[in-house]
Amino acid sequence: MPAQIIDGNQLAKQIRVDIATRVAILTAKGIKPGLAVILIGEDPASQVYVRNKVKACEDVGMFSLLEKKPADTTEASLLQRIAELNADPNIHGILVQLPLPKHIDSHRVIEAIAPEKDVDGFHVANAGALMIGAPLFRPCTPYGCMKMLESIDYPIRGARAVIVGASNIVGKPMAMLLLQAGATVTICNSKTKDLSAHTRDADILVVATGKAKMITANMVKPGAVVIDVGINRIERDGKVKLVGDVHFESASKVAGAITPVPGGIGPMTTAMLLVTWPATFDVVVTENLFGDILSDEAAVLAGSLGMLPSASLGA
Ligand code: GUN
Repeated sequence: MPAQIIDGNQLAKQIRVDIATRVAILTAKGIKPGLAVILIGEDPASQVYVRNKVKACEDVGMFSLLEKKPADTTEASLLQRIAELNADPNIHGILVQLPLPKHIDSHRVIEAIAPEKDVDGFHVANAGALMIGAPLFRPCTPYGCMKMLESIDYPIRGARAVIVGASNIVGKPMAMLLLQAGATVTICNSKTKDLSAHTRDADILVVATGKAKMITANMVKPGAVVIDVGINRIERDGKVKLVGDVHFESASKVAGAITPVPGGIGPMTTAMLLVTWPATFDVVVTENLFGDILSDEAAVLAGSLGMLPSASLGA
């Protein structure tokens, strides 16, 4: 039987409608969440991603500021701009699109963002909070993967989850979210021996390697859920085509459920940005309109990080 297709476009649409309603309630209370997105350089994929992020914010009624800077922007000037945005009371979230040009130290840039404005959840304070099970911001891509599993009511507790790819953006936070949900988690990396032995053992297989079509049907356990995080541009017949890290045509004949590319995790990542970042200050400033999304621990953490958004929002 062919796999169930987990439709990221459809799911993202539902999330956007839900968030638009919540933002309308916030707006009626005089609260306008503001997000700053910074893009350095001309990378075509990054340009599309940031455009989507900014548009998604605007579509649900949030304020967003897109700052495009040339590829030769200095690290010092970027850090200076981040410091200004950290201090700007109208900006509640800051996102610097990765990857950055080689002359800029990404780690230094991420650490310069105030943890309470780090909507990506990449700052060590937020990565640590996620690790101890008290996340403030959940990184959008792994959070989107969790929502996709939730959408098919997948019983994560006790399931064997294998993640291929150990990046700070996807693989590692994905492992933490799955672990918290009760899965037994393995993270594979480029040095892993006999990768297929691991992937074939997975009830949940999450692939984030950036290598087009590397996971084929023989690497998938029959009936498994396959979440394909890869978005690779390949040229075919003079046209650019988007393909995932999973060989969809073959793997979808073996898997129980699978995410497509395009139309899978791409739209979900953007949608989850809308969920994750207004939630954090909402829990402190308003009547916890997003409370069903945030954990109690996150609320405590938001307080302990010294977030006083009621002052910054003038509420
Ligand atoms: N580049 C690829 N994915 C992401 C992401 O989730 N956030 C940021 N800031 N950059 C990215």
